[in-house]
Amino acid sequence: MAKRHGSFTLVSAIFFTIMVSSSSASDSKALLQFKESLENVTALSDWNSSVSPCTDQKANWKGVICWNGHVWGLKLENMGLSGSIDVDSLASLGYLRTLSFMNNSFEGSLPNVKQLSGLKSLYLSNNKLSGDIASDAFAGMDYLKKLHLANNKFTGKIPESLAHLQRLLELRVEGNQFDSVIPEFHVHLNHANFSNNKLEGKIPASLAHLSKDSFSGNEDLCGAPLQDCNTSKKPSKLMIVIIVIVVAAALAAICAVLIILHRRRKTSLLNTGSTSDLQKGAAAARDLDEVERGSTAGSDCSRKSEPGMLSFVRDDHDRFDLQDLLKASAEILGSGCFGSSYKASLVNGQMVVVKRFKQMNNFGREEFHEHMRRLGRLKHRNVLPLVAYYFRKEEKLFVTDFVKNGSLAGHLHGKHNEGHPSLDWPTRLKIVKGVTRGLAYLYAELPSLIVPHGHLKSSNVLLNESFEPLLTDYGLVPAVNLEHAQEYMVAYKAPEYTQQNRITKKTDVWSLGMLILEILTGKFQASFLQQAKESEQDLASWVNSMEQQEWMSKVIDHEMNDTKNAEGEIMKLLEIGLACTEGDAEKRYDMKEAAEKIEELKERDTDDDFYSSHASDGDARSSRGLSDDISISWNV
Ligand SMILES: *[C@@H]1O[C@H](CO)[C@@H](O)[C@H](O)[C@H]1NC(C)=O
Ligand SMILES: *[C@@H]1O[C@H](CO)[C@@H](O)[C@H](O)[C@H]1NC(C)=O
Ligand SMILES: *[C@@H]1O[C@H](CO)[C@@H](O)[C@H](O)[C@H]1NC(C)=O
Ligand SMILES: *[C@@H]1O[C@H](CO)[C@@H](O)[C@H](O)[C@H]1NC(C)=O
Repeated sequence: MAKRHGSFTLVSAIFFTIMVSSSSASDSKALLQFKESLENVTALSDWNSSVSPCTDQKANWKGVICWNGHVWGLKLENMGLSGSIDVDSLASLGYLRTLSFMNNSFEGSLPNVKQLSGLKSLYLSNNKLSGDIASDAFAGMDYLKKLHLANNKFTGKIPESLAHLQRLLELRVEGNQFDSVIPEFHVHLNHANFSNNKLEGKIPASLAHLSKDSFSGNEDLCGAPLQDCNTSKKPSKLMIVIIVIVVAAALAAICAVLIILHRRRKTSLLNTGSTSDLQKGAAAARDLDEVERGSTAGSDCSRKSEPGMLSFVRDDHDRFDLQDLLKASAEILGSGCFGSSYKASLVNGQMVVVKRFKQMNNFGREEFHEHMRRLGRLKHRNVLPLVAYYFRKEEKLFVTDFVKNGSLAGHLHGKHNEGHPSLDWPTRLKIVKGVTRGLAYLYAELPSLIVPHGHLKSSNVLLNESFEPLLTDYGLVPAVNLEHAQEYMVAYKAPEYTQQNRITKKTDVWSLGMLILEILTGKFQASFLQQAKESEQDLASWVNSMEQQEWMSKVIDHEMNDTKNAEGEIMKLLEIGLACTEGDAEKRYDMKEAAEKIEELKERDTDDDFYSSHASDGDARSSRGLSDDISISWNV
């Protein structure tokens, strides 16, 4: 364990050694308090306050793992322990990184482990823990790499927060009673086992690389690496009719009519289009079906349902209603932390995008309507207008026009692998300028919002047919449940939030800066964090760690073409990106400064700029030299 920390400086090593005696006293107190909560502790008889738990690397207490005089881990396996796991007392162990209570007799619900946010591994397999696990149970455990919960009696959903842990490599949940669908993981798990649960639905694409026996013993799972969902479980048309009849018989007449009508629409949807469209369509239909059931108040027909009405916020758009949307053939565009988005082609040929948001209950109905009307009044060529929305307590639907060229994220990180050319420098500059103008407009029009955008990232920048950027998902921070916002929204990743727990009027500028760095480096902040692993670097500090002379060769995306005679301007934009991501918000540009600097940028260097700022690098790098440079290895 100590080996991993070989990079610690000598100074810090000395510092830690000096600290040994005092911190062990408090470690000892914490552990003894922890022991109080356990039952059948015969195995821990040598836990005695007259000896400190650790002397440097040596553990004096059974089951304790030490590092430099600190309690680094607890390995209390096969000890017949029961009682409760008192996480509160462990929380004071500042160096605790690994915990194992495998193969004991602990019962009850999962302890509140997210308090131990420094943990790298947590092993709770082979106990009798039970009950549902809250969806945020692992939120913020950013160092967690290994989690074993196998062979307990857990029920309910696999907690969504697990799917967002950036460093998770190994997950074992086999032998429980987890049900419903597996969440889409945002990392590549090296090892995972979901077998012997009651999981169902399609295995998310991010887990398709795992072996079949990672999923065995769940009757209703389908999709790679198991059988295809369509061939395995899709009921025949006849079956649908039978089900509909049976269901209908059980319900009141009006209700039955409604349902049959809806099913017929779904059936026709399922029977058109190519196979892959068909799959996507089926999934989208299933999802939208849920919306529909909500809007017609489920199976309880006597209850007065909420009106299933779309509220239009603009006059300059053709009207349609919720039923038109549900009738439309739909295709899933993506699903994020908030919910999914679909492309729907209306009968009249119009294509719209429907985004479905959950966790958006911060506003009551009236306040929500008010806020939507405010967003509906926005009008700017770089802001994608909201067309209509749908309000239900449990979820909201947002309807916008479909934007032809997809998201900036797709172009930077994916599409060019599918035959689309990578974005060249003039296009990237145009995008940066458009995004900045759109953002400045939001600042001007939504002055009461601390973060007028709040969720600015490359997947929320769409590109129209002429690659003019359009911002989406703006102005939503006040509507989203605070906890969810803090966990997932871009504004809350800014240093002023992670370090000082506040967001400011400059927070969106930080997001803009990160976006600029992403556009120039072609590197994705989230996956970059993953690669950076142990080191706490983000994209900005990585760029800062490079010598300025190396920027053009090592930092700038080598797939960005048409950079000839533009090096000077590219460097200026990179510097603006860094100034916008300045960790100290006081020193950071504000929106006005950022917008002014960005407006000044040009597509090509004027001779003056280029030679005066770069002549000292030698021959001012001819464009040929430049393209040689930028093909240099990209490994960092
Ligand atoms: C702790 O150890 C001391 C001496 O080593 C012994 O006298 C004392 O009884 C022990 N205390 C407990 C609680 O076991
Ligand atoms: C679990 O603990 C029991 C005794 O408590 C032991 O007999 C058994 O071998 C252990 N199993 C594993 C897998 O360690
Ligand atoms: C108590 O722990 C011992 C091993 O330390 C184990 O053999 C025994 O079964 C446990 N008793 C209970 C009631 O769990
Ligand atoms: C997952 O666990 C099951 C049950 O213990 C086992 O049969 C299977 O081999 C495991 N799969 C992997 C990939 O470890």
